[in-house]
Amino acid sequence: MNEVALITGASGGIGYQIALLFAKSNIDVVLVARSPEKLQRAEASLTSISSARVFTVVADLSSREGIGTLLNFINEHQ
Ligand SMILES: NC(=O)c1ccc[n+]([C@@H]2O[C@H](COP(=O)([O-])OP(=O)(O)OC[C@H]3O[C@@H](n4cnc5c(N)ncnc54)[C@H](OP(=O)(O)O)[C@@H]3O)[C@@H](O)[C@H]2O)c1
Repeated sequence: MNEVALITGASGGIGYQIALLFAKSNIDVVLVARSPEKLQRAEASLTSISSARVFTVVADLSSREGIGTLLNFINEHQ
């Protein structure tokens, strides 16, 4: 099984920099944030510098619905 890092708030700022470190180490990453556009930009940026797999989850983690979305993603990808 590949190692996978799940990073919340990963489309910008500190979260993106952490995702960059994992991707550079060829560890697959799951990026979570609210804006699909920002997530797509982050995904494109990471895949351009790494062969790690990059997954994105659009979820507002301040809401129960968003937490449910993320939990569903995790359950579906175990
Ligand atoms: N920058 C610093 O020097 C510093 C120092 C100490 C502590 N902190 C704390 O560290 C955290 C991150 O800081 P940052 O500077 O990296 O912030 P940032 O640049 O604003 O990044 C925030 C990230 O979180 C996502 N996000 C925001 N609200 C969200 C929500 N409800 N659900 C899911 N994703 C959400 C944003 O994307 P979307 O907007 O698309 O959701 C973005 O990817 C903050 O809590 C900040 O207070 C920062």
